[in-house]
Amino acid sequence: MPPSPEAILDYVLIDPDRLQRRIAELGQQISDDYRDKNLILVGILKGSLVFMADLMRHIVVPHTLDFMDVTSYGAGKRASTGDVRILMDLHLSIEGRHVLIVEDIIDSGHTMAQVLRLLEARRPASLRVCTLLDKVERREVKMDIDYIGFPIDNVFVFGYGLDIDEYYRNLPYIGVVKSGVTLSESDENYSQPSAG
Ligand code: IMP
Ligand code: MG
Repeated sequence: MPPSPEAILDYVLIDPDRLQRRIAELGQQISDDYRDKNLILVGILKGSLVFMADLMRHIVVPHTLDFMDVTSYGAGKRASTGDVRILMDLHLSIEGRHVLIVEDIIDSGHTMAQVLRLLEARRPASLRVCTLLDKVERREVKMDIDYIGFPIDNVFVFGYGLDIDEYYRNLPYIGVVKSGVTLSESDENYSQPSAG
């Protein structure tokens, strides 16, 4: 079993109140921007699940939902390899629809770049990106992000949808993991020190 969240938490980066206030603002902004547009929210599984559930309740224009599961690295690895695999594709057609991709975090940008490339080819009426967190310092692929919840520093975070080896997604806050914490042995790609 994984350690308790308290055992691996360095500090709370974004508490539940701050998360909810910012998500309400994003929802309002998206509602304004997509008035009279045929909107589809596309969540990238599994990290966007919690954010999507809260965000959609602040979007007051009619919209539909779909999900896509992509992976850029296996459990335990903490950095994107640029090798992105589609594990589950959309169920709905996006041709002629106004697509807003909902993501938990953009780090190197490899994952989002691939998703954008794939969805652009399906000729949506428009294609935009909404990410809860933006680790801008780590970006390797340049891209425009239309809605950003919080820009964050180069720290490894968990909670509120974000996992460490698939655990801790249920936490109501975004926490920074203690330096040196490793749940599995294979996180050599991430630039944080590992105590082993
Ligand atoms: P990218 O392709 O490097 O932009 O990686 C994006 C994906 O890496 C996200 O969808 C997350 O699943 C994962 N990721 C990046 N940084 C973190 C983090 O600090 N905590 C948890 N997952 C992260
Ligand atoms: Mg993700």
